Amino acid sequence: MSRPDVLERARELDQADPLRAARSAFVIDDERLVYVDGNSLGRLPRAAIDLAADLVRRQWGASLIRGWNDHWLDLPERLGAKIAGLVGAHADEVIVADSTTVNLFKLSVAALGARPGRTGIVSDDLNFPSDLHSLAESAVLLGRGHHLDLVRSADGQTVSTAAIAAALSEDTALLCLSHVAFKSGFLHEMAAVTAAAHDNGALTLWDLSHSVGAVPVDLEASGADLAVGCTYKYLSGGPGSPAFLYVRRSLQEQLTNPLAGWMGRASMFDFDLDHVPAEGIRRFLTGTPPVLSMACMEPGLDLVAAAGLDAIRAKSIGLVAFFLELFEEYLAPLGYRLQSPVEPERRGSHVSLGHDDGLAIDLALIAELGVIPDFRPPDNLRLGFAPLSTSFAEVAELTMRLAQVVVDGVYRKYMSEGETPNRVKAT
Ligand SMILES: Cc1ncc(COP(=O)(O)O)c(C=O)c1O
Repeated sequence: MSRPDVLERARELDQADPLRAARSAFVIDDERLVYVDGNSLGRLPRAAIDLAADLVRRQWGASLIRGWNDHWLDLPERLGAKIAGLVGAHADEVIVADSTTVNLFKLSVAALGARPGRTGIVSDDLNFPSDLHSLAESAVLLGRGHHLDLVRSADGQTVSTAAIAAALSEDTALLCLSHVAFKSGFLHEMAAVTAAAHDNGALTLWDLSHSVGAVPVDLEASGADLAVGCTYKYLSGGPGSPAFLYVRRSLQEQLTNPLAGWMGRASMFDFDLDHVPAEGIRRFLTGTPPVLSMACMEPGLDLVAAAGLDAIRAKSIGLVAFFLELFEEYLAPLGYRLQSPVEPERRGSHVSLGHDDGLAIDLALIAELGVIPDFRPPDNLRLGFAPLSTSFAEVAELTMRLAQVVVDGVYRKYMSEGETPNRVKAT
């Protein structure tokens, strides 16, 4: 396909896209910028601008302390209920709080407490390092002989359900995995993996950070016990927006939040010295929520809910299919390697490309070609396709610029920089 043909094809795909109007719900100041990092920080929903102004001026400025009763105390549950609708959970099974890592700590320690006598924690080496750090340190902290065992990926991209099942035993207390792997985009089979854990009597804890808002998730149908996830990626909650946690209803009363605090008490304003946990999901709260940041995530949640996850997933698959088609023709001959599963059912909404000069290419794309991807060492350019805001035209431009940066040799002047750019947070 010639370049004009590619652009024409992209225009046709955009016209036929049932979600094309969603792009205008986001702030896009620079139409030439190709933003393929919405899987790290989603674009700003327009509605969040007025909401933020109202929050600060009226809710904080005029309501003052009354704001807690008027608007803020129930925010963690109210927004949790909206997220529940996106992950196949009941409204009273999800709550917004803290960061993903903190929630993972709370739920993993709670789960280990609910499986006394078992010492195994199983994960895989595709999991996000922060999750593994938290699990490993929790094992040490608990001082009861817990150990973290990692299933190793044979190809650096995928881990089979059979390999996970083989690592489980009657000593496994907890299986903790990222639903979509942060680097390769590999998508675990949640229901089958959860069933394997349950066959061994273990609990499951899923990190949904790279799937929520992009991939349909059905926690209830999958039998999942626990989950956490962040809201600043495909949910467009904003930089540092708080995370969420999910605890299956039937488990809530059995688990103890190891970070007990007043917000998770049955009666938070009696200031009694005994800690009586709240009933239900609220017991997993700890301290005061970051209200401004938390409230600003609502417009993003509403956009995802309005579009619907089936439509979002269909668009995501379409965007990646278009990219992969162009990849073969334009990028593979230039030394780019596909480092993600090809089959859509085995992949989330991002794709990783390897290249021997990946870091220099990443730096050149950002500095000179108006493309924002992200980079994971040693050679991984990660391209996130955010179905609500990424257009097919953007995918076409992305491919052309990935080709141009190599053909014109623009990247060569960045070859000495040699270090991971820290100005772009790549998670
Ligand atoms: C899969 C995954 N898990 C956990 C985290 C850490 O999240 P937080 O910084 O909210 O603790 C990230 C960060 O982006 C992530 O991608």
